[in-house]
Amino acid sequence: MPKILVIGSSGQLASELKQLQNQFSDYQFLFTSQIDLDISDKKSVESVFKSFMPNYLINCAAYTAVDKAESEQTRAFDINEKGVHNLASLSKEHSCYLIHISTDFVFDGKKSSLYKEDDQTNPLSVYGLSKLKGEEAILVSGCDYTIIRTSWLYSSFGNNFVKTMMRLGAEKESLNVVADQIGSPTYCADLAQFILSQLENLSLHKNNIYHYSNEGVASWYDFAYEIMHMSELKCRVNPIPTSDYPTPAARPSFSVMDKMKIKHDFKINIPHWKESLAKCIHLLRP
Ligand SMILES: NC(=O)c1ccc[n+]([C@@H]2O[C@H](COP(=O)([O-])OP(=O)(O)OC[C@H]3O[C@@H](n4cnc5c(N)ncnc54)[C@H](OP(=O)(O)O)[C@@H]3O)[C@@H](O)[C@H]2O)c1
Repeated sequence: MPKILVIGSSGQLASELKQLQNQFSDYQFLFTSQIDLDISDKKSVESVFKSFMPNYLINCAAYTAVDKAESEQTRAFDINEKGVHNLASLSKEHSCYLIHISTDFVFDGKKSSLYKEDDQTNPLSVYGLSKLKGEEAILVSGCDYTIIRTSWLYSSFGNNFVKTMMRLGAEKESLNVVADQIGSPTYCADLAQFILSQLENLSLHKNNIYHYSNEGVASWYDFAYEIMHMSELKCRVNPIPTSDYPTPAARPSFSVMDKMKIKHDFKINIPHWKESLAKCIHLLRP
């Protein structure tokens, strides 16, 4: 029975993978949290590789605090670059197939058309740069891999924009939300389903970077508006420019990714973000 090691098990994406594991009973799963396995500690990764001997490693672990990374650069690079280097070199050594998740924040957002996998990267933030360095560590490691760049993740698990908006929407009469950053929301449940249902096909198309998000395009304002609407919350959402909501980390103003490559290679249909948002909100509503 092929073995799958899922790292970062307390996070949003890993929690969705855990939800699906019973549907994939042909595989043996091991989920590890940061307490069991710290990816920045090579010995810790090595001991799990030796005891579990995974055929596939799905890395959902990352330093994901985008703004905090600006002041915690060392920690961000220790996890997102050095940690990923550890996973890639051990995957190579143990012939394990690595599936790694990266981000639209590797781009600067200055393009006016959809971002393709081989477009020039130019991260604007420490987080984006640390994730790009993680991608590069995999590329030079010699392991077999799939890197999936995704964007604007949310889930019924963990902390995310959808849950924050639902909480604030229940407390406040109005909220200001940035309307000039454009991207594609992605429901972790959809990405998790893609990864597990295509696991063997991923290795048939090995050593590739792919873009995966839900279909459609939104600003954070559009996203917040739909969250309020679908949750039947009366809170008014006001569109504001990024300049009125300064954050420590700069974010790309346009980071919509082209999904032609993943749709072509895996013959998949990807749900529209509004369709998936409705499913998540259905789970979250009291
Ligand atoms: N969230 C987004 O909007 C977004 C967008 C694009 C791409 N991504 C990427 O998608 C992936 C999954 O994101 P997510 O939103 O599911 O992340 P998440 O909910 O923040 O989960 C990340 C997990 O990584 C764990 N972790 C942190 N440092 C670790 C270490 N040194 N060793 C082992 N585990 C460690 C964390 O553990 P603790 O719970 O103990 O802190 C957390 O459970 C990440 O690679 C992220 O960069 C995310």
